[in-house]
Amino acid sequence: MAISKDLLEDLRRRRETARLGGGADKIEARHARGLLAARERLEALFARDTFQEFGLHARHQTRHFGMEKKDLPGDAVVTGIGFVDGRPVAAFSQDFTVAGGSLGRVHAGKICDTMDYAMRGGMPIVGFNDSGGARIQEGVDSLSGYGQVFNRNVLASGVVPQIAVISGSCAGGAAYSPALMDFIIMTRGSGNMFICGPEVIRAATGQVTTMDEIGSAMAHASVSGNIHFIADDDMHAVSIVRDLLSYLPSNNMADPPHDLSAHMTLEDDPQVDALVPDDARMPIDVKKVIERIVDGGRFLEVQGLFAPNIVCCFARVAGIVTGIVANQPAVKAGTLDIDASDKAARFIRFCNVFNIPLVTLVDVPGFLPGVTQERGGIIRHGAKMLFAYGASTVPKITVIMRKAYGGAYLAMCSRDMGADLVYAWPGSEIAVMGAEGAVNILYRRDLKDADNAAERRKELADEYRKEFANPYVSAGKLFVHDVIEPARTRSAIALGLRSLLSKRETRPAKKHGNIPL
Ligand code: HXC
Repeated sequence: MAISKDLLEDLRRRRETARLGGGADKIEARHARGLLAARERLEALFARDTFQEFGLHARHQTRHFGMEKKDLPGDAVVTGIGFVDGRPVAAFSQDFTVAGGSLGRVHAGKICDTMDYAMRGGMPIVGFNDSGGARIQEGVDSLSGYGQVFNRNVLASGVVPQIAVISGSCAGGAAYSPALMDFIIMTRGSGNMFICGPEVIRAATGQVTTMDEIGSAMAHASVSGNIHFIADDDMHAVSIVRDLLSYLPSNNMADPPHDLSAHMTLEDDPQVDALVPDDARMPIDVKKVIERIVDGGRFLEVQGLFAPNIVCCFARVAGIVTGIVANQPAVKAGTLDIDASDKAARFIRFCNVFNIPLVTLVDVPGFLPGVTQERGGIIRHGAKMLFAYGASTVPKITVIMRKAYGGAYLAMCSRDMGADLVYAWPGSEIAVMGAEGAVNILYRRDLKDADNAAERRKELADEYRKEFANPYVSAGKLFVHDVIEPARTRSAIALGLRSLLSKRETRPAKKHGNIPL
């Protein structure tokens, strides 16, 4: 006995109606603004025909104060699982055409069910956020809903990768759930994110501002540091999600998607030598060095517009997925400041929790001097880097390219901070501080009234560089495993990463460390 035609027709009709969300007109209006509808975002993410929707028939009748009862199809969110490059991924996509994508009890329940499924199955979670936040007319139920979502975000943290896309206006809770996830991608123009919008700020403080200034993709990518990538539109956001996923394991128990069949190039690369300026005072562009080291010159930079004095990126070296942290001497001389420390520490912790080996490229004159830095807590922020590297148990390879001074030498993963392998280039300087500073502190009094003070200072500085700060001193004390030509950098890292693939390190049992926040 087959299922009756009427029943099948009823199912088809229900599906059709639910799929239209807030109605064809509202979807059309979004298309006219160059935006995809909620379900279309998921269809763009997943391989064709792999999306399995959960909760399509969820309906919710709101009891508005002062309003008619209203049906909210799908309760303003589309949820389910699908496949990206052959691996399962769980996702939700808020539907702005239904009550502004606002979050109520059933809406939150659908997101939580999907996240629970992802944690059980060990698959990443991707969320397209496009929501006015807590649904006002549901009162405390919507706050409870957000509480449940936030709690799931925290439970899932370090278990499965979580990626948020900010596709539209995201207010209140719609901003905090993404903030608890690992990466945030925001579309330029249509996406914005805020806790108190310009109107509320003006009413509460009298300050006049704009959404561009406080909530736009550019503001969050370059000033607040809240987001990691800017997308030009919905399709670009999806392509960034896919690119990011291509470097990530499905969960914390799995290895990242290494390509161990990749050819390992062991020849020297003279072009790396050519990148080093003759004048030690001229900066290297570290992104050019990275390009020479990684497979195909391809890397995915994270937070490229925030604290550009440090570069954090994913790449493959000899097929092995790697997180690279590199000082960028072309910006602020590559110093570590508050923002650079926060950015690098979070990236290091992400790599550690998802088994991604770390390569650190060092050319750092120190922490950035200044009143703003000291009063802003550079001690606390810089300590995050020390903590993050010290707590990481993934393979760690450090290459000291030029300068590695003081606390910043340690904060960039020295041998004592747990590096498994440390290489240095000839001519690099590893010391408590730069030569001029050292001479000034040690010989200031002696040289104060000397006739030939300038000449003597230079002599002493040269002697300091040659005798105390050169890499052979550190290699002689076993802080550096080998001094290598820049041309050998790629093969040294490749061989090191391959040799450390099975690294396991156990630490004393504890609930968790207490990273300075
Ligand atoms: C219920 C909402 C809603 C909300 C929007 N809508 N936000 N319904 N609860 N929070 C509805 C509108 O009534 C409207 O319904 C439809 O969504 C589209 O909204 P518009 O205002 O017409 O759209 P737009 O001009 O694009 O503005 C979008 C917006 C704005 C910027 C998101 O709607 C807005 O400011 N909403 C309120 C934001 C907010 O303050 N949320 C509470 C945050 S507190 P109709 O029927 O007319 O189409 C929070 C607490 C969580 O989230 C805890 C955090 C820690």
